[in-house]
Amino acid sequence: MEKMWAGRFQKALDKQADDFNSSIHFDHRMYKQDIEGSMVHALMLSNQGIISKAEYEDILNGLSSILEDIESGNLQIDMDAEDIHMFVESELTKRIGDNGKKLHTARSRNDQVALDVRLYLGAECEEIGAQVLSLIEVIKDKAKENTDAILPGYTHLQRAQPISFAHHLLAYAFMLKRDYERIEDALNRMNAQCPIGSCALAGTTYNTDRKFEAERLGFTGISLNSIDGVSDRDFCLELMSAFSILMMHLSRFSEEIILWSSWEFKFIELDDSYTTGSSIMPQKKNPDMAELVRGKTGRVYGDLMALLTTLKGLPLAYNKDMQEDKESIFDAVDTVKMCLGVFTPMLATMSTLKDNMYKAAQKGFINATDLADYLVKKGMPFRTAYKHVGEIVAYCIKENLVLETLPIEKYKEFDLSFEQDLYNEISLETCVNKRISQGGTGPQSVNKQIAFLTEFLNEKGIH
Ligand code: ARG
Repeated sequence: MEKMWAGRFQKALDKQADDFNSSIHFDHRMYKQDIEGSMVHALMLSNQGIISKAEYEDILNGLSSILEDIESGNLQIDMDAEDIHMFVESELTKRIGDNGKKLHTARSRNDQVALDVRLYLGAECEEIGAQVLSLIEVIKDKAKENTDAILPGYTHLQRAQPISFAHHLLAYAFMLKRDYERIEDALNRMNAQCPIGSCALAGTTYNTDRKFEAERLGFTGISLNSIDGVSDRDFCLELMSAFSILMMHLSRFSEEIILWSSWEFKFIELDDSYTTGSSIMPQKKNPDMAELVRGKTGRVYGDLMALLTTLKGLPLAYNKDMQEDKESIFDAVDTVKMCLGVFTPMLATMSTLKDNMYKAAQKGFINATDLADYLVKKGMPFRTAYKHVGEIVAYCIKENLVLETLPIEKYKEFDLSFEQDLYNEISLETCVNKRISQGGTGPQSVNKQIAFLTEFLNEKGIH
């Protein structure tokens, strides 16, 4: 295919250089956004008297037919084209003749690509946002089913204090809510600065109407500096940062699911449809999906790092290095979508083994803080109570006892204020139920969290 810019050159581009230069094999996925942007651009040109109404209609019909043909499979995108922008324009000219050559008036590929990527990300992030919301919903529903499941809460992966499984799960729902909001926030900033009309870098001599184009394309404003409009990809970086944090959350959750499904924990059982077997060990049921989500997190971080590094030394304005933005951001988008796509149903179909959770909570002195609090409520300063209980724990370990089985007489040897009611105070149920502080693991707080998330989801149209 002859290059649009061939006029200035005596020789054709070397074949290998041409392949190297071309972005069509990855930017072809933006065909819809490219055509949509061109349709609005042509309308603006016509409104402003830069092209005639008839020329506009010709262009519009041409572009519509290209879109239709691509979608129906009647038109294959030519992988020899330099990029999707060149492909659409040359296909248009093939179809409607000279009027097609008028489309690129008052525009450059530099503002065109900056627009297309934004439009593409807007559409993809809508899907990702919906996926995050449905994961939050699944977590909330799982939490509802598990308000009565008690398990050890951990610090340093050592049993620390008893908590409800609902409370543990809900922690992730709040993280994901912030992930949702971070993406939304990045999109709002991205959509406030429509770059089209910045042209190559300096703006244009035509009397264009950038606001009209921006509004038609769903933006809330235009970029106010044409060099900025074509030079920055910070919106990609912001989204990839948000994706990286989201993946980090999914990865931690995955790690816990992997631990919980091991024989050492056996707190949960993943459904057969989200686990795999081993080619040699007949007993195995492996949490591959969770492991892959954990593994693919590194990939999304890598995408962010790649683009940060690409941009860091670039002088203003456009440089061809920036073509690299797309492979990073597309990979990040694809990976996040794929991970959420399997993570959510994997979680939804996971069953909880409440008895095993409870058994794990019965060992390891996770009610020791509550025993100290028992003494504090009888008037002892916390530090003194803490020391006493430490000694009692050490004694129990030596005697192979736990706090629940240490006889009251022994307790009284440590401190006379211990009475029979201590056993009730250190039961796992009491430990959880009495955690009445806001945001704590007590049932009132857990129910409040569920109600809060339900309201958040309702506001987003999920009932
Ligand atoms: N394929 C190019 C990209 O993705 C489009 C912009 C090309 N602009 C240019 N001045 N060569 O960045």
